[in-house]
Amino acid sequence: MRILTLPSIAALALVGGIALLGTSGAMAQAGAEGVVKERIESMKAMKTAMKIAGPMVNGVMTYDADEVKKAAEAIAAGTGEALTKMFPEGSTDGESDALPEIWSEWSRFEGLAKDTETKAKVLAAFSGEQSKAAAAFDALEPSCKACHRAFKD
Ligand code: HEC
Repeated sequence: MRILTLPSIAALALVGGIALLGTSGAMAQAGAEGVVKERIESMKAMKTAMKIAGPMVNGVMTYDADEVKKAAEAIAAGTGEALTKMFPEGSTDGESDALPEIWSEWSRFEGLAKDTETKAKVLAAFSGEQSKAAAAFDALEPSCKACHRAFKD
């Protein structure tokens, strides 16, 4: 899922370095392509995890505490700092729906990423009990949407 390959780490370092030096954006754009792809894959994986946890906590699918825990842990692993790291400044190229406000309101963006991670961890912690997990899921779901409303096209 969120495996950082060596080239993508190099690309991140490159983008970071270029942003610091303030040189031409052209190379940064090329370097960011891998990151955009990577974060879209990560977001899709989180959606899949939500589609497992949601029906289970709501009783549409047979409840499996281990599956809900795994899904919640996958979401926790894709949010917080892991999420913000995949948004190097200005990486809105190609098929990206990321809005430039991410970088002008970075601390708000970071806060929403952290909040989602915390809520996913709460879901993991309460996965043993369906009713508590349902409440935790209901708290988690709007945090994905809160960020999308503000920062996704
Ligand atoms: C802190 C902000 C933030 C949080 C929290 C967040 N997302 Fe996203 N998400 C984004 C942004 C920004 C994009 C657009 C990324 C891009 O296209 O470059 C996106 C894109 C997506 C996409 C579209 C991927 C595609 O096919 O293009 C899905 C699906 C998604 N997110 C699911 C989720 C789920 C599920 C959660 C909660 C568990 C979540 N996101 C939490 C910011 C966030």
